[in-house]
This record gives sequence, structure tokens and C-alpha cells, in this order.
Amino acid sequence: MFSRITGIGSFLPGQAVSNHELARRGIATSDEWITSRTGIGFRHLAENGETSSDLGLEASRRALSAAGLEASDIDLIIVATSTPDYIFPSTACLLQSKLSNHGATAFDVQAVCSGFVYALTIADKFIHSGSHKRALVVGSEVFSRILDWSDRATCVLFGDGAGAVVLEASDRPGILATSLHADGAHHGILSVPGSVCNGKVIGDPFLRMDGQAVFKFAVRVLAEVGEECCAAAGIPSAGIDWLIPHQANMRILEATARKMKVPMDKVIVTVDRHGNTSAASIPLALDEAVRERRIRAGQKVLLAGVGGGFTWGAVLFEL
Ligand code: UT7
Repeated sequence: MFSRITGIGSFLPGQAVSNHELARRGIATSDEWITSRTGIGFRHLAENGETSSDLGLEASRRALSAAGLEASDIDLIIVATSTPDYIFPSTACLLQSKLSNHGATAFDVQAVCSGFVYALTIADKFIHSGSHKRALVVGSEVFSRILDWSDRATCVLFGDGAGAVVLEASDRPGILATSLHADGAHHGILSVPGSVCNGKVIGDPFLRMDGQAVFKFAVRVLAEVGEECCAAAGIPSAGIDWLIPHQANMRILEATARKMKVPMDKVIVTVDRHGNTSAASIPLALDEAVRERRIRAGQKVLLAGVGGGFTWGAVLFEL
């Protein structure tokens, strides 16, 4: 039993917010600094009260419609998010309720920016085992809620959004190989080191990052795990049609492509318009490229994610 992606959807909240607009709002930054260091020009920010399950709902509806399925056809819902609506229940259960699905297995995955790659791998393994037939795999984030807007080194980098895929059992392979890793020894270079205890926030509820350490780590492991996943499928990296790395920073995307010897015209780039949307970045980029008819049926696509934890992973599939 194999699994194939049969529907893709995404959703971006509100209007695109430019770098100039952030500077106008009082952040000590400039379009020139953000563009030259990151390639980011715009990001979308959710409205007050708009949650990860709300964004995930729109993306899921679009993915289900693309697959020609109803929500009730789904027997597994996995949501990758680091900005859940509540401490509990899971965002997957809240999304399930909004979709009026009753009875499917539903849970969240917390692997920060690698979350979607983790969730897709887990769904593939559930389907491969024969226990489930139709999965909804969602990456959804409202990262704007965990940003310290007085920290210009982080707040300009991130955005909000959601992406979703439907993964169905099939007798021919769609997902060709997967590869997941983590090393908690690096937890301190990217974290939100806070918690809620006895009604109070303990520690720091905002995203903190050692940008240069993250940069070096990301470039090394994205290329490594991409190569590892291709090797597991018996396909050279030159044999893939498209590379979709986590959309963190244009320079990270370029360095990863260079290391893997993949030309930039095979790399899907949305970081310029979306910023870094964490677990949503890969499915958002995938959906955009499929809707623009750049990625077509029968092509081989390599997804590669890296995020806090540190976590990293890749999925190679044929559409
Ligand atoms: O999902 C993974 C998420 N994380 C990432 O992708 C981050 C990876 N890291 C990076 O992309 C880069 O490290 C950054 C873009 C975050 C920072 O670039 P950098 O070249 O490493 O800059 P820096 O942190 O060394 O800062 C250089 C200067 C500093 O000023 P001084 O000390 O040289 O006077 C910063 O204060 O740039 C200043 N700076 C800014 N200036 C204008 C930092 N943020 C800003 C800003 N606007 N937004």
C-alpha cells in the first residue's frame, strides 16, 4: 500500500504587509536591510482573533475540494503547528470540529518549521500500514502572535498562513522516500522559552533566535537530508524536477540549492511574498507552484524542512 497526494490547498490571511509598512509602524528597520539579508519583501499577518485552526480550515477546504472529497471521507487529520489555538485540545481536533468530521484520528505535531515534513511522513506511514486510507495533513501558523515586535532581528522575518494536502492510499507510489531527524542539543538557538503555570506566563513567551547559528545549521542539514532522501529513493538529486526547501531566507534557499547542485530555476521560492510561515511554508509554496502549473502531475518534488528543536527532514514524492 502506497500513499499519493491527491489535493492541495492553502490560505493567507489579510493583506500583504510590506517591509516599508513595518518601518512605518515604528520598527527600526528598512526595506533595504530586510531584502538584502533575507529576500523577504512581504508577509501576511492574521487579524486579532484569527487562529491556526481558522487558517487551516480554509486551506483544508481548498485541498479537499481539489481532491474531490468531503471532510467526512477523511480518517486521519494531522496538524503541524507551533502556534496552536489552545494548550489543549489539539488544533487538529478544533479543525476537525470546524470541518464537521466525526471520528477520524486527529492530533498535532510539534516540530516547528519541519512540522509539515514530519506530519506528511507520519501520515504516509499510517497509510502504508493499512490502518488509514485518507489523511488531511495541514501546516498552519499564526507566528505573529509569538513575535516580540520590539526585536527587529526576528519580527521582520515571519508571517502567518496555512497549507494542506490530502494524502490517499494508492496501489502506485506517490511518496517515494522520507527522512526525519532531530537533535535537541541545539534547542537553545531557536525557541519560545516560556510556559503557562498557575495562570501566569513563566519564562519568555516570545521567539528568540541566534540568527547566525540557525543560518549555518539550516544550510548544512537541509542539503544533507535532501541528499539522504534522494538516495533512499534511489534517485540522484539531479533527477528531481523541483526542490521546495522551508522558506526561511532567500540566502538559505540559494545555499541549499548550490550544495545539492540543483539549479535555482528548479527551486520554488515564496519567501519573498510570504516571509517565514514555519510549518505552513512548504505546503503554501507547493500549492502556489501547482496552481501556477509549474509543478505538474508525474513530476518528482523534494520537500526539505528545518526548524527549532532542532528538527529536520525531507519527503520525496511524485505528484
Ligand atoms: O526557520 C528558521 C528561522 N530562522 C532563520 O531563517 C534565520 C537564519 N538567520 C538569518 O537569516 C540571519 O542571521 C538574519 C537575517 C536573522 C540576520 O542577518 P545577519 O547578517 O546574521 O545579521 P546580524 O544578526 O549579524 O546583524 C547585523 C546588524 C546588527 O547591527 P550592528 O550590531 O552590526 O550595528 C543588527 O542590529 O543588523 C542589525 N539588524 C537590523 N537592522 C535593520 C538586525 N535586524 C535588523 C533589521 N533591520 N530588521
